[in-house]
Amino acid sequence: MKFFLDTANLDQIREANAMGVLDGVTTNPSLMAKEGISGKENCNKHYVEICNIVEGGEISAEVIATDYEGMIKEGHELAALHKQIVVKVPCTADGIKAVKQLSSEGIKTNCTLVFSVGQALLAAKAGATFVSPFVGRIDDISGDGIGLVADIVEMYHYYGFETQVLAASIRHTRHIIECLEVGADVATCPLSAIKGLLKHPLTDSGLAQFMADYEKVNKK
Ligand code: E4P
Repeated sequence: MKFFLDTANLDQIREANAMGVLDGVTTNPSLMAKEGISGKENCNKHYVEICNIVEGGEISAEVIATDYEGMIKEGHELAALHKQIVVKVPCTADGIKAVKQLSSEGIKTNCTLVFSVGQALLAAKAGATFVSPFVGRIDDISGDGIGLVADIVEMYHYYGFETQVLAASIRHTRHIIECLEVGADVATCPLSAIKGLLKHPLTDSGLAQFMADYEKVNKK
């Protein structure tokens, strides 16, 4: 399973990248706003900076337009910024049409704001590179976010779709484990959820014991 970092924060992207386990980054207009980045020029510069930090990674940059023509225009501009850019498009009627067109031009796409198997079917039929079911937001309204990821994975395998299932809106470490269990291709996570994978009391106590035993025989 690939790991993407779900943030536009450059320090966190550098930190995760330095761990050597990062395969990409996802951003959205809310995440860009959180970092105080505004205006097309600044946003574009920021996307390029992320691409340069995560060498070879897949970096999702979301269109702002909601109509087909606007999405295509923005999609072309974003894709031209850097070869690592994946154009993120909302799962609407115009969005599906835009995914179809951009994909047919060889531009990578991430169909976002997906909350049902039916939406995931349309994204795959349009040729999306990634489909993003929002796990946490479904859980927030008492739904089964991981269940949706599992259903999409199963449907794609059954019909042989190549679109990768990118579990988004991941809120904590347990979500990552559940993504592994149901066969998600990618999980895009906050840095805290990735770091949570490292936590184990037996690792901490084992290391403390090793250090103590080393000190016993090596102290002057
Ligand atoms: C990433 O592609 C999504 O935009 C993001 O995971 C949404 O996360 P949120 O539901 O925590 O805002």
